[in-house]
Amino acid sequence: MSATNSELPVADVSTADASVTPATQPPTANSNEIAALPQGELTLQTVAMPADTNWSGDVFGGWLLSQMDLAGAVMARRRAMGRVVTIALDNMVFHVAVKVGHVIACHCRLQKIGRTSLQIFVEVWEVHDSLKPPVKVTEGLFTYVAIDEFGNKRLVPVIE
Ligand SMILES: CC(C)(COP(=O)(O)OP(=O)(O)OC[C@H]1O[C@@H](n2cnc3c(N)ncnc32)[C@H](O)[C@@H]1OP(=O)(O)O)[C@@H](O)C(=O)NCCC(=O)NCCS
Repeated sequence: MSATNSELPVADVSTADASVTPATQPPTANSNEIAALPQGELTLQTVAMPADTNWSGDVFGGWLLSQMDLAGAVMARRRAMGRVVTIALDNMVFHVAVKVGHVIACHCRLQKIGRTSLQIFVEVWEVHDSLKPPVKVTEGLFTYVAIDEFGNKRLVPVIE
């Protein structure tokens, strides 16, 4: 059984961490209209392959979710300085279908650092045609928990 928060040593985990993107306006489902370009750090880029599609030739939402989870985990793991696991996914929106051969770019923003958790907003943009502007295909808020080698939660290290 994992330890409860109250059993963990108290640390002054600051949400004013310099690596956290200031968010006066939290991202919204229609932020496509607000931000016409990808926001955040590119942590993963890949190509949709035939094996990633359903019977209609559209890419599975689950495949995209998986890429987003990986992209967010790259950032979370770096900031947490070690293992993380995904605990929650919120505000997921699929805006546009992805087709085979499309290149998708996952951009991540660290929204919040808690005691043991990190919230990372992930946007996916379709960027296969360099002559056209990128198109936002999906976005969502992923929450990761820092864990130790036994799978128990641990504090996210404070960075001064
Ligand atoms: C991650 C895990 C170790 C956390 O242990 P726990 O005792 O249940 O954790 P808690 O309930 O204390 O929550 C830990 C942190 O996650 C946050 N959290 C919990 N549920 C959440 C939710 N639904 N949404 C957002 N954050 C959540 C808590 O607020 C807390 O953050 P904080 O410490 O920064 O304040 C445990 O839940 C686990 O192993 N889950 C499975 C993870 C996994 O296998 N993921 C992959 C699935 S394929």
